Amino acid sequence: MNKNILSGMRPTGPLHIGHLFGALKNWRKLQDDGYNCFYMIADYHALSTEYASMGEIKHYVEEVAMDFIAGGLDPHKSTIFVQSMVPEHTELHLIFSMIVPIPWLERNPVYKEQKKQLIAKDLNTYGFLGYPVLQAADILIYKARYVPIGMDQLPHLELTREIAKRFNYLYGETFPVPEALLTETPKIPGTDNRKMSKSYNNCIYLKDSPEVIKEKISKMFTDPKRIYRKDPGHPKTCPAFIYHKLFNNEERVGEIEKECKGAIIGCTDCKKELGEVTSLYLKSIQDKRKTMEKDKKVLWDILNKGAERARKIAVETISEVKKRVGLIYG
Ligand code: TRP
Ligand code: SF4
Repeated sequence: MNKNILSGMRPTGPLHIGHLFGALKNWRKLQDDGYNCFYMIADYHALSTEYASMGEIKHYVEEVAMDFIAGGLDPHKSTIFVQSMVPEHTELHLIFSMIVPIPWLERNPVYKEQKKQLIAKDLNTYGFLGYPVLQAADILIYKARYVPIGMDQLPHLELTREIAKRFNYLYGETFPVPEALLTETPKIPGTDNRKMSKSYNNCIYLKDSPEVIKEKISKMFTDPKRIYRKDPGHPKTCPAFIYHKLFNNEERVGEIEKECKGAIIGCTDCKKELGEVTSLYLKSIQDKRKTMEKDKKVLWDILNKGAERARKIAVETISEVKKRVGLIYG
């Protein structure tokens, strides 16, 4: 049995601390636990929603790739690659598109939700409806058995499982039916206490300088019930406290909890300390990133090698798939 794992992210901008704790740390652990990991930058998936404004795509691909590596993915252990550089994904996607009933796609809750939310973009396209079919191809082309994802991606993975089963039923046992590895991290709120998202402008990016981090954190949302300095605080409902738990040492977190509840520490000082520990925490990631920023050639070497490695397996799977389907010529 293979120990293949695949996951991916769309290149829509630099990564923030939500990505670090929600995905990257877990991806890194899997890589270190001896799984055969494929980590992909899903540029075709970005195309499905950003097709009218792709000007920044190369820049975004580089940003995400640098954050992947600076954030701990090791190109010697994991295969890090860009989706469109492994064209076999699209070939498998096409074959799958022939066997996927349209109602499976139309009833996908992620599809319905996104189409409603992103009304400014015309998402009434063939490619957008087929988004999860491409995702199934991403996973199944490596015969991945595990897919580390967040809860929001579960409906997509369910479709991947259905597609694998349907293909196996029609053409014989070819694909494993992959399972989700859910990341169990607490939801990390944005600095305004809403969901952390680029469109809300409430992110702490991995690449933010110490000055930017301190500035963002100093304006951060805190316990709204703590109006005056003398009011006791409620760390449980304060996003700054959630950040302390991520970035500060355990002992100090315990003290802050008490000092907050007892109105001993004020929010300004609490956030000042938070800005400092957060910048310190991200420093090693940023040092690594800066080296890569200086010489993109090293980065593209890694991505070229990654694509080459991924293709070796992708080509094998496609050739097996075509045989199964009956497309055997020459
Ligand atoms: N849809 C995923 C997201 O928006 C990105 C993605 C593309 C993906 N292909 C994948 C995730 C395959 C896991 C497996 O985050
Ligand atoms: Fe939040 Fe810190 Fe203020 Fe308590 S003291 S409410 S933890 S910012």
